[in-house]
Amino acid sequence: MKIAFFDTKPYDKPSFEKFGAEKGIKFKYYETKLNEDTVDLANGYDGVCVFVNDTVNAKVIDRLCEMGVKVIALRCAGFNNVDMKHAYGRIHVLRVPAYSPYAVAEHAMAMLLTSIRRIHKAYIRTRDFNFSLAGMTGFDLYGKTVGVIGTGRIGRVFIDICRGFGMKVLAYDKYPAEGLDNGDTVRYVTLDELFENSDIISLHCPLTEDTYHIIGEDTLAKCKKGVVIINTSRGALVDAETLLAGIKSRKVGAACLDVYEEESDFFFEDFSGHIIEDDILARLISMPNVIVTSHQAFLTEEALYNIAETTVNNLVGFFENSQCPNELCYRSGTAEDCKSGKCF
Ligand code: NAI
Repeated sequence: MKIAFFDTKPYDKPSFEKFGAEKGIKFKYYETKLNEDTVDLANGYDGVCVFVNDTVNAKVIDRLCEMGVKVIALRCAGFNNVDMKHAYGRIHVLRVPAYSPYAVAEHAMAMLLTSIRRIHKAYIRTRDFNFSLAGMTGFDLYGKTVGVIGTGRIGRVFIDICRGFGMKVLAYDKYPAEGLDNGDTVRYVTLDELFENSDIISLHCPLTEDTYHIIGEDTLAKCKKGVVIINTSRGALVDAETLLAGIKSRKVGAACLDVYEEESDFFFEDFSGHIIEDDILARLISMPNVIVTSHQAFLTEEALYNIAETTVNNLVGFFENSQCPNELCYRSGTAEDCKSGKCF
């Protein structure tokens, strides 16, 4: 089985080589992302393996089909970069639904603590032997209210972490999880209630038509002054321009962003010697109360191992048993996992 692997980074290879060799899968590693210009590199391969910022639009899907590529194996959970409607009936799409919810939830908390306790500032100051505390005042998380939008795998781990800090949790999910609401420290509320009462808001829902710019002008207006926004899910959940305006007006107290709307132009690459054309990203990064990481929340040894193992098992299941529990199916209209493994 031959798979063209796009957007390869050095940290991807060791686990994929290990699991691929064990299961007889040969990966051809390309550093370039998959898009309309690079899709022909998949010619002669049985499948492609892609990540969050590869472009899998209708044109790419059509060309993959013309070349006889049978499967798109996402090595991530989110699939907003795949035109699922177009893929339906043409090509199979597999994903890794969960690889380490702890990795992402812990990163969200790491960003929150860094931001509100000014650790990013302290690190730079003390390296310069500046031991002044001026401007370093933070606030306790204990007793604060955190709004969690999306109570799936990652959202629930994040809630557990927040409860450990003695925080109150207001949760919102289109499909609430049974048994999570205890009527006290964790309560499901409406989105409006969540916006109005949360000191901190953390996004753990997928990017869909419903959730596009869920943090936008209207919703930010409902938030408390000084609200802290954490986004480790998908960039377009937050209207970056509105967020920037909120930071400037002091409505937003801090922002912790592991994802950004236009991240595919920048994230995962070194632009340190370049002029950044994106004024919103550059301005956000220049703010003392904004922390940006480059979609690194997933990046733990455990997660990389799980991603490679599940992707390889997905491919083996698909090609050898025509069955893969992690196949995405558009037919249900909700793109839930296709449990039957026969999406067409
Ligand atoms: P999950 O599928 O377990 O949970 C997502 C939750 O969002 C579900 O409970 C679902 O019902 C809920 N949801 C769906 N539509 C909603 C809506 N309109 N409003 C509110 N909630 C809604 O997914 P998981 O594993 O918890 O991942 C969450 C997100 O985290 C993913 O969609 C992905 O975008 C992002 N992610 C980011 C990573 C990173 O490195 N920064 C790594 C992995 C995932």
